[in-house]
Amino acid sequence: MKPLITGAAGHIGKNLAKAIYRKYDLVLTDVKEDEELHRYGHFIQADLANAQETEQLMDGIDAIVHLGAIATESTYEKIQKANFDSTLHIYEAARKHGIKRIVFASSNHAVGFHPINQSIGPDAPHLPDTFYGASKAFGENLANMYHKKHGIETACLRIGSYLEKPAEHRNLNTWISIRDMNQLIVRCLEADRIGTSVFYGVSSLHNDYFDNRDAAKIGYAPEDNPEDYREEIENVKLENVTDYIGGAFTNFGR
Ligand SMILES: NC(=O)c1ccc[n+]([C@@H]2O[C@H](COP(=O)([O-])OP(=O)(O)OC[C@H]3O[C@@H](n4cnc5c(N)ncnc54)[C@H](O)[C@@H]3O)[C@@H](O)[C@H]2O)c1
Repeated sequence: MKPLITGAAGHIGKNLAKAIYRKYDLVLTDVKEDEELHRYGHFIQADLANAQETEQLMDGIDAIVHLGAIATESTYEKIQKANFDSTLHIYEAARKHGIKRIVFASSNHAVGFHPINQSIGPDAPHLPDTFYGASKAFGENLANMYHKKHGIETACLRIGSYLEKPAEHRNLNTWISIRDMNQLIVRCLEADRIGTSVFYGVSSLHNDYFDNRDAAKIGYAPEDNPEDYREEIENVKLENVTDYIGGAFTNFGR
């Protein structure tokens, strides 16, 4: 299989490329040049906010892992280019090139205004907490539209907190480890049929925030458990703690 990984110079992309390059014929892209990436596949520098540059990445590609984005809150203008426009360009390019599988890095911030302790599932309606979260909700909606119209399947991964280890109390429910993130993405690439699916990108199948049991159906079996760090972090609480899934992001711009 020849997957394209966007945002390959970023945290998730680089760790993923490093972990899977022996198994797949990778094409890696990012707006930033990154020397190390040449070791893991064919690297092409491109700005996904530019439709033509995005289309030129697609030759011979079987599936896309779309990670390239601004990964936090920013001005609407910046989020528009890097997240809204880029994701549209990815879907349009996939349609034109007959690519039928996308793994989309969505975010817990697409549903950030759901209250904690209600364990929301894949059907939880969008309640974005930022322009950033709204761009991820938009991406999930594009996924649905391109599935219905063009048969492109997408796994939307509402990623929690991708960290080497949990760092604060909220991470007991939001953490995903590096190897679990890699595993989840590979399961999404390899699964037989996914239609438009939503999975939570957390090292858990069921916790106080997320009911992620659907992910087990494609073989996701987290190897790490945030509970192993409970004692270490239980009392670490950041400022601006909220009772919403999106945590401090729900306070941006208020
Ligand atoms: N890290 C997390 O905890 C987390 C949580 C939820 C969602 N996500 C999502 O996962 C994805 C990857 O996250 P990450 O932590 O690796 O982020 P990151 O910021 O480390 O990497 C994102 C990469 O995208 C690239 N990029 C930005 N704009 C681009 C453009 N216009 N064209 C091409 N490339 C562009 C950046 O150069 C960067 O290398 C993002 O879409 C992010 O929103 C991450």
